[in-house]
Amino acid sequence: MKRIVVLSGAGMSAESGLSTFRDAGGLWEGHDVMEVASPEGWARNPELVLSFYNQRRAQLLTSKPNAAHHALAAFEKESGFELDIITQNVDDLHERAGSQNILHLHGELLKARSSIDAELIYAWHKDICLGDTCDKGSQLRPHIVWFGEEVPMISVAAQRVGQADAMIIVGTSLQVYPAASLIDFLVPQAPIYYIDPDPSLSHMVTRNKNLTVLAQTATEGIPTVLQHIKKTASM
Ligand code: OAD
Repeated sequence: MKRIVVLSGAGMSAESGLSTFRDAGGLWEGHDVMEVASPEGWARNPELVLSFYNQRRAQLLTSKPNAAHHALAAFEKESGFELDIITQNVDDLHERAGSQNILHLHGELLKARSSIDAELIYAWHKDICLGDTCDKGSQLRPHIVWFGEEVPMISVAAQRVGQADAMIIVGTSLQVYPAASLIDFLVPQAPIYYIDPDPSLSHMVTRNKNLTVLAQTATEGIPTVLQHIKKTASM
């Protein structure tokens, strides 16, 4: 076993103090997800959408990677395994912990982009305000993949899953596609470790005989799984 792929979701950052999306009954920090994370919501009320992501960005800047982010980064550095992280999270906590190969499926909070040209992307740590424009003069928006939008990185992500010898899935309800369908690209014999205190087994490939579920938080489950992978690889 050489290559491990990690698919992380909001639960990965829960112990850093960032809220998940669906744990509070579909409300995200008091908002209907569609109101703040869809092109329709943006068209209806851009000020609300900007203010929502400005708050998330400000909160992120005061948050820190947790022990699970650090454990993944240390494993990559010390174990000799290749580690590919595919994250649905828009925070930069995997980066700040020191992981090297990170693919953001749903965009990044610390970037802004043009609302007319998806290629015009800017590093952005402060608030995005109405009137902040790209080089082509159009309003900047958060660099986030909203519901109903394409996920440009999905084919690169699928390729990385296809090359992996094992997959760790952590802190995700696996309800959002195409992210959840990435599991299907794993070679059939490769083990899957799914870490989530409330695992969504209906969305999981239960036909995969190599599935291990740890109903634990990320900081509990990640070190256990990494230890297990190291141990089985050296046997
Ligand atoms: P969800 O909010 O749907 O799921 C979070 C998962 O984290 C749940 O299964 C929880 O049980 C689990 N969880 C809670 N605390 C945890 C902890 N301490 N350790 C580990 N797991 C924990 O979030 P995602 O599956 O990431 O998209 O949601 C996927 C996408 O939907 C997001 O990327 C976002 C959202 O709309 C966009 O913003 C485009």
